[in-house]
Amino acid sequence: MFMCFEIMKALVLSGGKGTRLRPLTFTTAKQLIPIANKPILGYVLDRISEAGIKEVGVVIAPETGADVKRYVGDGSDWGLRVSYIVQEPLGLAHAVKVSRGFLGNDDFLMHLGDNLLKKNLGELIDKFESEKPDALILLKEVEDPTKFGVVVLDNKGNVVKLVEKPKQPPSKLGLVGVYLFSNKIHSAIDEIKPSWRGELEITDAIQKLVDKGCFVKAEILDSWWLDTGKKDDVLAANALVLDEYIQRDVKGEAIGSTIEGRVSVGSGTKIIGSVVRGPCVIGKKCIIENSFIGPYTSVGDECLIKNSSINYSIIMERTIIEGVETLEECLIGRNCRIRSEDRSKTFKLCVGDYSEVKI
Ligand code: TTP
Repeated sequence: MFMCFEIMKALVLSGGKGTRLRPLTFTTAKQLIPIANKPILGYVLDRISEAGIKEVGVVIAPETGADVKRYVGDGSDWGLRVSYIVQEPLGLAHAVKVSRGFLGNDDFLMHLGDNLLKKNLGELIDKFESEKPDALILLKEVEDPTKFGVVVLDNKGNVVKLVEKPKQPPSKLGLVGVYLFSNKIHSAIDEIKPSWRGELEITDAIQKLVDKGCFVKAEILDSWWLDTGKKDDVLAANALVLDEYIQRDVKGEAIGSTIEGRVSVGSGTKIIGSVVRGPCVIGKKCIIENSFIGPYTSVGDECLIKNSSINYSIIMERTIIEGVETLEECLIGRNCRIRSEDRSKTFKLCVGDYSEVKI
């Protein structure tokens, strides 16, 4: 049982450029890319709501903010009160800076809109409230620390140094995209300068807290953490979420088909002469005909898949796939049409919305 933290606010960073997920991010916000048919941002808001937080500021970018607003609305679907803060993507610390009006002098939880943790946020808030650090940061050992903010701890576990995406990483401990801060973070941000990439880095602001002798607490995560910055990460997140959460729930109609294992099929979907093997999810009003839908695949609403095999992929709404043998590790946008005349090959595609691909 966790207390209800009415006082603590959350800041969800849902702006950014999403360059690593182009072409999809030309037409949609990265945080709205579906993982098991639900935007990652939806899972983030679920977690925040479960932790008892009520007041949420959502940082949005001028280009993709309207889509995020359409999805989240006033937050009432999650029992939250949501305010929006428009930010030019000039760094995570810059996002905090422009949110000062919303945050005031309160403690807050900052959550990247494209990250997801298994760990219960209520437990972290509990720890923050009882130990009262100026920052509580989460760390996880990562394979390639050059892609992350990296943290060095001393032998007592105190934070010594933080470096953003180092060429020569001093440790393997990556900074996870969930942080808790006291209002001291604001003066730290006021004292930092943009990095070589022109961004105000949150790692520099936390380093400033350390340099000023503030209490910065680090916790090493023992459960999974997902960061959906690029295609492979999105597919891995999809696989993990399908594995953890999908239960067998077949609402559509299966005609001459085999549906094996933990498969969720939405209402109005017809599966004809096909094999579907879980864990996987197929949305509403789809037609799957003479096809194989393999494990770790998510198919959005109103898709048509005919004479094709798909494994370990995300296919978004209203996309048509015909005669393709085999699609694997694919991230395919909305309203696409993919056709092949050569049924002997395996394709690994990343396709933006409204594309037409003939192979
Ligand atoms: P990043 O993945 O670090 O940055 P990005 O979204 O611009 O992507 P890329 O590096 O591929 O160009 O951002 C992490 C999260 O923080 C993500 O949800 C976007 C959000 N964000 C902001 O809200 N404002 C910002 O200024 C930045 C840099 C990111």
